[in-house]
Amino acid sequence: MAGRVKKSDQEFKARMAKHEDELKWLYMELYQNDSMYAELCSQMYEYYTRRKAALKKRDREREADPQWYRRKDMLGMMLYIDNFAGNLKGVQKKLDYIKESNVSFIHLMPFLDTVKGKSDGGYAVADFRKVRPDLGTMEDLARLSAKCHEMGIDVCMDFVMNHTSEEHEWAVRARHGEGEYMSRYFFYDNPQIPAEFEKTVPQVFPTTAPGNFTWLPEIGHYVMTTFYPYQWDLNYGNPRVFNEMMYNFLFFANQGMDIIRIDAVPYIWKELGTSCRNLKQVHTIVRMMRIIGEIVCPAVALLGEVVMEPEKVVPYFGTVDKPECHMLYNVTTMATTWHTVAVHDTRLLKKQLDIVNGLPKEYTFLNYLRCHDDIGWGLDYDTLKQWNMDEIPHKQYLNDYFTGKFPGSESRGELYNDDPVTKDARFCGTTASMCGIESAGFEQNDAKMEKAIRKDLMLHAYMFMQAGIPMIYSGDEIGQVNDYTYKEDEEKRADSRYIHRGAFKWELAENRHDRTTVEGQIFESLSYMEQLRAQEDILGPDAEVSTWETGDQEVLGITRRWNGQTMFGIFNFTDCNKELTLPEDGRYRELFSGEILEDRTITLPHYGYAWCLK
Ligand code: GLC
Repeated sequence: MAGRVKKSDQEFKARMAKHEDELKWLYMELYQNDSMYAELCSQMYEYYTRRKAALKKRDREREADPQWYRRKDMLGMMLYIDNFAGNLKGVQKKLDYIKESNVSFIHLMPFLDTVKGKSDGGYAVADFRKVRPDLGTMEDLARLSAKCHEMGIDVCMDFVMNHTSEEHEWAVRARHGEGEYMSRYFFYDNPQIPAEFEKTVPQVFPTTAPGNFTWLPEIGHYVMTTFYPYQWDLNYGNPRVFNEMMYNFLFFANQGMDIIRIDAVPYIWKELGTSCRNLKQVHTIVRMMRIIGEIVCPAVALLGEVVMEPEKVVPYFGTVDKPECHMLYNVTTMATTWHTVAVHDTRLLKKQLDIVNGLPKEYTFLNYLRCHDDIGWGLDYDTLKQWNMDEIPHKQYLNDYFTGKFPGSESRGELYNDDPVTKDARFCGTTASMCGIESAGFEQNDAKMEKAIRKDLMLHAYMFMQAGIPMIYSGDEIGQVNDYTYKEDEEKRADSRYIHRGAFKWELAENRHDRTTVEGQIFESLSYMEQLRAQEDILGPDAEVSTWETGDQEVLGITRRWNGQTMFGIFNFTDCNKELTLPEDGRYRELFSGEILEDRTITLPHYGYAWCLK
């Protein structure tokens, strides 16, 4: 026994020795607090000792294979536990379906205890150590992750570190005037400082939750609330906050989480006179979190949620020597993709893909078409301006297009946080509804349905060819459309993001192998793409990815090269047929039809797509 303890001590010590200087340096730079640093280190050791043998084994395996999260068969699916299967035990029962969907990791949307009606979809955590009772228990979570691991599925969860719910114990005690807890948030007893902040800090929810502060009459203070008034921003200037949140992070690592999604990470450091976004201290904190993970639980990868323009996203990877997040969402590409759908013009998308493809290959992006949030139209307007697309009118066009108001648009969905002042609005809807599957179904129009399905598949085929890891939003694999029932729910009515957060339709999923149905066509076609992706090295992380000039603005070209092989992807963003010439001579095999192309010409139907391998 003594021998075993010693051996694991050595492992911890060796990892500590590797990172100690940097960790201490960063900690002291931020907090100048020796005793809190000592406490952090001793707690790290505690969490390390409590870590189960099976997880420690995973740690060692991943230390030996640090690129594990970039594997070509990585495919994520994000899902709400209750929508998908009622509770955690229910999810466990549905793991065969997850496997059948070729999914290698599931992102369980927020499941920690929260206050009904004041939950922001679970992003207002009331207790970091308790699962929302209707979803199950912490034991259920650990059991689910163990079962997932057995089946070769990784588990991802949200770590909401910017704020807590106003019902979190700290917040409750702060509201009672306990100074120790007030210092964990941002409290002001007069309106001056909040007013100063408001001059430089933009608003996240300008319509549903305007401003960045909330007045608390019972204690005569303002509290900082960047998101909803019931989400109180944590003060990371206080080392107690940082330490405790790191213990929460390690606690979840020990429940078997493989990927930790750091929610709203750009916001975690606040300073008067700034935008309170992306400040340099945020990077110090993320870097420390990465180091802490590498010492205690190196099997865990960090996924940063940075919903910002590319130049602000990329720094969250850190550097090759001092990495921060393992993965980041490719948010601008996602928004640009939908812009491309609406304008049938691939120039901006090509430019955006070229930027991403120009980055070091170690930088791993998570590609997605839709997620649980709205689409904010964060596009490169400087470039669009040159093509006569000005920001405000263009956003209006996109919103008109996707809500189906624009003549000829088959998309359906709703606006989100329509800001009357800036005239800015974001958009909500599922992939299928945005592609026209909802409207075609409603009209029972087969021709429109065929077009809508092809568009949906084309977008997936394009996403699977991008550099990075693809992520599917649960329901998209069967073409699930918008769910309007949220309007009948008092708690959800004001937040249109619930339109794309409907319950998973298991009865429709039954059709998934029947190619005469919408579900069957989408599920089977996606399965084929996913399996190809998992098998072919050219679709893996080591291939060189670039775009190619198709000679037609309406058609996007992506190239992948690996080990002497070349693959040209072609994606038609219009409802016209296209004839194109591949950029190089050769004998190609088109992977979807299996057809051999004897010359370089290829014909694509409307919204057609092709992967040509030579
Ligand atoms: C993230 C989540 C979003 C939530 C916000 C506040 O952006 O994706 O759903 O509203 O954080 O926690």
